[in-house]
Amino acid sequence: MSGEYKQHYNEFKQNPAAFWLSQSKRLPWYQAPETAYTQDENGLYHWYADGQLNSCFLAVDQHVIAGHGDETALIYDSPVTNTARSYSYFELQQEVAKFAGVMQSLGVTKGDRVVIYMPMIPEAVIGMLACARIGAIHSVVFGGFAAHELAVRIDDAKPKLVLSASCGVEVNTVIEYKELLDNALESASYKVENCIIYQREQVTAPLMPERDIDWAVAMQTATGVDPIPVSGDHPLYILYTSGTTGTPKGVVRENGGHAVAMHYSMETVYGMKPGDVFWTASDIGWVVGHSYIVYAPLMYRCATILFEGKPVRTPDASAFWRVVEQYKVTALFSAPTAFRAIKKEDPNADGFKQYDTSSLKRLFLAGERLDPPTYDWLKEKTGLPVLDHWWQTETGWAIACNPVGIEHLPTKAGSSTVATPGFDVRILDMNGDECAPNEQGAVVIKLPLPPGCLPTIWQNTERFKAGYLSEYDGYYLSGDGGYIDDEGYLFIMGRTDDVINVAGHRLSTGEMEEIVAAHPAVAECAVFGVNDALKGQNPMAMVVLKNDFHGSHKEVEQQLVQTVRNQIGAIACLKNIMCVERLPKTRSGKILRKNLRQLIDGEELQIPSTIDDPSIFEELTLQLAENKI
Ligand code: COA
Ligand code: AMP
Repeated sequence: MSGEYKQHYNEFKQNPAAFWLSQSKRLPWYQAPETAYTQDENGLYHWYADGQLNSCFLAVDQHVIAGHGDETALIYDSPVTNTARSYSYFELQQEVAKFAGVMQSLGVTKGDRVVIYMPMIPEAVIGMLACARIGAIHSVVFGGFAAHELAVRIDDAKPKLVLSASCGVEVNTVIEYKELLDNALESASYKVENCIIYQREQVTAPLMPERDIDWAVAMQTATGVDPIPVSGDHPLYILYTSGTTGTPKGVVRENGGHAVAMHYSMETVYGMKPGDVFWTASDIGWVVGHSYIVYAPLMYRCATILFEGKPVRTPDASAFWRVVEQYKVTALFSAPTAFRAIKKEDPNADGFKQYDTSSLKRLFLAGERLDPPTYDWLKEKTGLPVLDHWWQTETGWAIACNPVGIEHLPTKAGSSTVATPGFDVRILDMNGDECAPNEQGAVVIKLPLPPGCLPTIWQNTERFKAGYLSEYDGYYLSGDGGYIDDEGYLFIMGRTDDVINVAGHRLSTGEMEEIVAAHPAVAECAVFGVNDALKGQNPMAMVVLKNDFHGSHKEVEQQLVQTVRNQIGAIACLKNIMCVERLPKTRSGKILRKNLRQLIDGEELQIPSTIDDPSIFEELTLQLAENKI
């Protein structure tokens, strides 16, 4: 390290409030904040509460006012429907202002929640920005979630309005979103007044009179509305993420801190310049999509790409490189699993050579651990800097990165490089003492978290405190384990809780366990993540059936696969189920899930001394050999 990063980081460390107040001055506020952060009566931190701004104004209007209205804002590229179109900042402003007018005419006002359950189409982005424009709080639900998951989120967010579309288009399949939405609305206890449905060419969904409104029809008579000022601590969105139980956590993001963090990260983490083309190949249903498909690129006046396709099969493994050439992409950000899929189908990266990718300066990866073989392959085949960065839905932006905008540090395979300025990252042992360099422990962040991170869980401060703040006083518990080496590089080694990461999708094994355990034939079960060459991890269930159950094991297994798929969604992929006689437990009855994972992954078993009966692992090993799992 030549020192620029260290100097910048120390500037933050010496006075976080002054550092972030100075960053806030780079944005056009209606009223600039004078105080960086405050603590409320519950001890929770909020950034820039005395400032007034509007996130939609920052993402769209400010650029039109500054004379950049003709520049490209949003590029929609959809190989699954064979369409593409782009919006200039001016066109985006017109659409967003009008759609905000539609929502306002339905009585949506500041603070109301709007659930968005939509595929990767421009209207989803327009809907998000329109909410921000009128101070409504959006809550986007990933399209791959089933009706039950949507209902759970509706019951928690209590939206005044739902935005949806007639269908989503996956590889070779059309998914009828409206049907899923209708089922969710029927099963939710909370009753939604209105839904606005975007009818796509592929499917025309039946609309329910009184409740459902056709998007295009509503837009025909709409009049545009201006952005309204909201305070820095007013929520911009709620994004639900998997925790350790069946009830997802509503991560709250506030306008002020989010805007400052997004702007700062485009420069520091991604090294971008206004006018560049930034492409995040993810989904707007995930935090990566919120931050780096929608808000950050637009706030920083980059063109952003909304890609309705996959890394493979739309139509082949060269899709990413085709998009790079076509739109002259400057930086590409995706999950390691996407590149593993490309590598599997095109091991020599012929697709990369087929296109002119000379515009591409850097590749960014996050969402799950970047395994060294994928890192090495990408580096070798593309010759580009391959930059891993670590973050979570909760933080909304990178906790650790290679801060290329300040200083491009040498990379190390398996490391997400160093703590991003703003994040005071520590490794603590079980007693709360700091670990020595290279010693593994719990990865925590000293409070206050920087701007952009969650202040709390939606309407559940107790859960926020219990889940994140109670383990180590004064620190945020990330839920990840890892270490910092003697050069200050951070290595994230995996979750220490019941969260798993399947193809970059965050899922709760606890939730799957609740569903499996509810089957009438199941006495008890354990669900845990096991290694998967493509998806990083896949869930697996070990199930003990009730003594009085004499039916077919195969049938139960099939029913369990289907129930998890119906309740959570296709992305849950619980396909590995094994019926066993008993589960390994401690003497106090705690199931040893970590040992089960080690057993399946062929790792050395680290059996705790508190185990009830160690011979169980011999039994399971024998059964595994018979089942050939
Ligand atoms: N709407 C509806 N269904 C969806 C969906 C969506 N938005 N996304 C995925 N699904 C469905 C798929 O169709 C599939 O259904 P199937 O079992 O009936 O075939 C199922 O969910 C599993 O999907 P996925 O886990 O994506 O597996 P895949 O084999 O279809 O694709 C990859 C594998 C690696 C190509 C794909 O997961 C991918 O592109 N991953 C990148 C992940 C990413 O961007 N993560 C965001 C964090 S940065
Ligand atoms: P999500 O909230 O869906 O973004 O998932 C966050 C979790 O994904 C983190 O807590 C990590 O476990 C994992 N994760 C994300 N990025 C990385 C990374 N670069 N390296 C290792 N793990 C990561």
